[in-house]
Amino acid sequence: MDDFNVADDRDQVKRLCFEGAWAWFLEICFWCCVIAFVMYLLRRVFEGPFYRRANRIDGKVVIVTGCNTGIGKETALELARRGARLYMACRDAARCEAARLEIIERTQNPNVFNRTLDLASLASVRQFAERFLAEEDRLDILINNAGVMATPRKLTVDGFEQQLGINHLGHFLLTNLLLDRLKKSAPSRIVVVSSAAYMFGRINKNDLNSEKKYWPFFGAYAQSKLANILFTRKLAELLKDTNVTANCLHPGIVRTELMRYNNCLCFLKTIFHLITRSPKAGAQTTLYLALDPKFDALSGGYYEYMLRLPLLPWARNKQMANWLWEESEKMVGLKHNDDESKLTNITTVQVIKDEQ
Ligand SMILES: NC(=O)c1ccc[n+]([C@@H]2O[C@H](COP(=O)([O-])OP(=O)(O)OC[C@H]3O[C@@H](n4cnc5c(N)ncnc54)[C@H](OP(=O)(O)O)[C@@H]3O)[C@@H](O)[C@H]2O)c1
Repeated sequence: MDDFNVADDRDQVKRLCFEGAWAWFLEICFWCCVIAFVMYLLRRVFEGPFYRRANRIDGKVVIVTGCNTGIGKETALELARRGARLYMACRDAARCEAARLEIIERTQNPNVFNRTLDLASLASVRQFAERFLAEEDRLDILINNAGVMATPRKLTVDGFEQQLGINHLGHFLLTNLLLDRLKKSAPSRIVVVSSAAYMFGRINKNDLNSEKKYWPFFGAYAQSKLANILFTRKLAELLKDTNVTANCLHPGIVRTELMRYNNCLCFLKTIFHLITRSPKAGAQTTLYLALDPKFDALSGGYYEYMLRLPLLPWARNKQMANWLWEESEKMVGLKHNDDESKLTNITTVQVIKDEQ
């Protein structure tokens, strides 16, 4: 009789816990927790490492292009927090002002300035550089961050395909105009935000401006990001022995407004949301290259997740880098007085063994 009762009780307990609505509820809760935990782990992995050194850059003069939103804004915020004298170089003065006020409020650093720079206009680049050079005696860090991706084919004010024009040519001119100030302020640095999309890119010597054929992402965007890398590497070689370093990076796949021009990529946003990095996480490699003291001496590298990565052969092609440099000079109308010394540098560059 006792045995019968015990079995009966056990059955009842079993029924209470694992049958009916309770059983479903518990099972759903269990799997939700498992999924949430796995997603948390995945998110942590995709967010990647953060720059943890506490070094400050009080009073150092920094320019960040395109920093009213996205990766640039997070970069600017952190640099202001660390005491930079920060020039926000943005095309939309109103959006820049809103971001500037937010950065000042969050960092309590009043030395944050709103300056207009439209990389799609060479005149605007020149005006920005002229004003900056008149305002500041030094420039410690230049961060070429601004960019557009997979836009419909449109020309810049000066008639360049806009991804090439904004992502590469505008920054090419800006950097060259500020180079003497960077040299004067050495040790100083240039950080270029490129992209792993360079892997799909080729420099189209016969159609740099994508006039014959326009492929928004795999063509023009990828070409412009490859140009960023070739430019950085060429710059690093030209700046050898000047204590000005130049490095570039891929920020990861980051949830920003970069896809705003491309509706067909927008459906990917939902999927991407799970596996992409926050803008704060996306800014970490830029911050690493801008802040870590070791980059006073390291130059010419390509970084992702705060690691130096090897480049594919077409991003290491020195002849192509030389060709692109000279072509870019012609396109932006840069006149060098020191053509001879430039040629000497180029010859030296060609005999230096590539380290990657
Ligand atoms: N997000 C990613 O997954 C990813 C991946 C690889 C590389 N990147 C690179 O990261 C950089 C930052 O992009 P993001 O993701 O932060 O994109 P974002 O949120 O769209 O920010 C781009 C910034 O560039 C500015 N900009 C665009 N055209 C400009 C022009 N003509 N003159 C001056 N500024 C201009 C934008 O200003 P407005 O707001 O006024 O347009 C904005 O401030 C880009 O170089 C991009 O190629 C991003």
